[in-house]
Amino acid sequence: MKTGILGGTFDPVHKDHLALIKAAKEALGLDRIVLLPTLNPPHKPETVTDYDTRLEMLKIFAEESGENPVVDETEKLFYPKAYSYQTLPYLAEKYAGEDPVYLIGSDSLFKFTEWKRPETAAAAMPIAVYPRGDDRGVAEECSRLESVYPGSEFIPLAYKSRGISSSLIRFMAETGDESGLDETLTPGVKKFVAEKRLYTGFSAIVEKLRAELPLGLFLHSVRSAEWAVTHSWLCGTGFSESFLAALLHDSAKPFSPMFPMSEYPEGTAPQVCHQYDGGYRVKHDFGIDDSAVIDAVTYHTTARAGMTALDELTYLADKLEKGRSYPGAESLRAIAERDLSAATAASLNRTAEYLKSKGETPDNLTLQAIEWYNRKNGRQNGTQTIS
Ligand SMILES: [Fe+2]
Ligand SMILES: [Fe+2]
Repeated sequence: MKTGILGGTFDPVHKDHLALIKAAKEALGLDRIVLLPTLNPPHKPETVTDYDTRLEMLKIFAEESGENPVVDETEKLFYPKAYSYQTLPYLAEKYAGEDPVYLIGSDSLFKFTEWKRPETAAAAMPIAVYPRGDDRGVAEECSRLESVYPGSEFIPLAYKSRGISSSLIRFMAETGDESGLDETLTPGVKKFVAEKRLYTGFSAIVEKLRAELPLGLFLHSVRSAEWAVTHSWLCGTGFSESFLAALLHDSAKPFSPMFPMSEYPEGTAPQVCHQYDGGYRVKHDFGIDDSAVIDAVTYHTTARAGMTALDELTYLADKLEKGRSYPGAESLRAIAERDLSAATAASLNRTAEYLKSKGETPDNLTLQAIEWYNRKNGRQNGTQTIS
């Protein structure tokens, strides 16, 4: 008997989890999978659906999956906070006769040394790693960690995700994409999500925007929100902020400029005004007080020095959503898949070059942003002397 343990928030559980269960069983010769919903997911900066609701949803999934996974409630024992260094040894003992192996995503692998007492987690049982995004560097990191923690075993899994994530599904539910939900959720889970009205906290905002914007601009906004939430795991921003900033970035575009030109920073071109108006509308018309969201909208066109992770995510979502097809978009997308800061810097340089080629001067904030990235990159490459 050989058992694989798959932990996760499962908020919600979806068809990629099912594909992963099948792939892990095959690759590791597992007889069964244990699903372990996490109590308090680390590195998630916002509340998730409560544990009992996720547990109920997971049991529906287990029943209809055809793979007979077991739902394990171990983390409850460690309420209010369960760490892997506590749960893994506990599970190793619980499943001692079943040769257990713990499954993690490559995003967790690359943060493994930041886990609390990683040596205890590494010693508890072998850890198999499925790629999140591409599989670049996963095998190397597995061997590196094996030498950092002698006696540990890290196994890279060849598994190709279909690109479904819980964030994508939350996005689909928020924007009412029924056919998307049909494709990504098992039927019982889809019904459960609808009955409990999960992931509908922003539907009023979506409907307000739909009513106000021309269709083309509304669809661009929705695609931007999709890009943002499906890339937010790269920079650690939460679902709500990522979704709202990208969704509302152009919310003022048809109404801009909303104020006399003297109210905008000196030298602001008329087409740039909508970023400031957008920040205003987010706060005053959409009632969002989160200054990170307001700022990300306020600088989505020009960027600024000191770009935050949410600023970069929003800036890129606007430029790289799937409807964008300008020359160079594909190569920027490839950079963004592994480094949002590098993609932002590359996109800003491209914009500045383009404007200069037309004899126009980029906005001051754009020039400051480019300068800021140059300095940052210079420091990282060790070419900058510290004075
Ligand atoms: Fe815009
Ligand atoms: Fe836009």
